[in-house]
Amino acid sequence: MNIRPLSTAGGAEITGVDLSETLGKDDIAEITRAFHEFGVIVFRNQDLSDQDQLRFCDQMGGTATRGRPLEQRRDDGDSHYGGTVHMVTNVTNDGTPLGSFGDGEVWFHHDGSFKEIPYAATVLYAIEATSSGGETLFANMYAAYDRLSPEMKNRLEGLRALNIYDYARTGRVDLDQDISKINHWIHPLVIRHPDTGRKALFISPLMTARVEGLNPGESNALLAELFRYVDDEDVKFEHSWRPGDLVMLDNRCITHARRDFPGGERRTLRRTMVEGVPISA
Ligand SMILES: [Fe+2]
Repeated sequence: MNIRPLSTAGGAEITGVDLSETLGKDDIAEITRAFHEFGVIVFRNQDLSDQDQLRFCDQMGGTATRGRPLEQRRDDGDSHYGGTVHMVTNVTNDGTPLGSFGDGEVWFHHDGSFKEIPYAATVLYAIEATSSGGETLFANMYAAYDRLSPEMKNRLEGLRALNIYDYARTGRVDLDQDISKINHWIHPLVIRHPDTGRKALFISPLMTARVEGLNPGESNALLAELFRYVDDEDVKFEHSWRPGDLVMLDNRCITHARRDFPGGERRTLRRTMVEGVPISA
């Protein structure tokens, strides 16, 4: 196995591993170490079935099955999946979407930050890729936190924010409505990663809507300032997809986004998740 860093901000490519085979204990330990060090790990030229991808998630901490909204579940008549496999695709069959998050740009977010227990990791396997665009962008939230001034770090101590996402929309949620039926949860603005112990900024322009205990003007100003750190070139890196790529990203310390891509081309990523554990400051 060889592990090669992909950028100064994070990410590493791992070669010499065939994920269509069950991994041995030593391989799992080494991959897990790389995952914690680099935040995003990339395996290219893989040929993986749904089962292979689920087994990888099981070996990397356990496939998440909890709380997948009904509209995202893959209805292929095989109860084994139980909502664990989700297609990120713009492909339709007679006008019916075969998955979700089909087209266009997606802003930076953590998958599942609107849940009490966010996912530990997102695993994406490319089945179809566009000729250009559609790159997944990553922002390293350890690095974003480290770049804050000591005064700002002090100010964030103890602050918490509302994270909310509406599957029926693509942008930020308007808080001037009844949000009781929209997925949301309040998390600390800064969390301590449950595995590495490092502090990471836990905010995103797509899902973090309000800092608790501040008036709307103060909250918006603070979030706008923090979002600048998420959008800093020094914390960002990206992945250009080829069919056969498998990418695993750490949802506690990495936010991700998607660049726009040509709408007439097919793009299909198979997404599975690794179950999380409670997060705290
Ligand atoms: Fe996502």
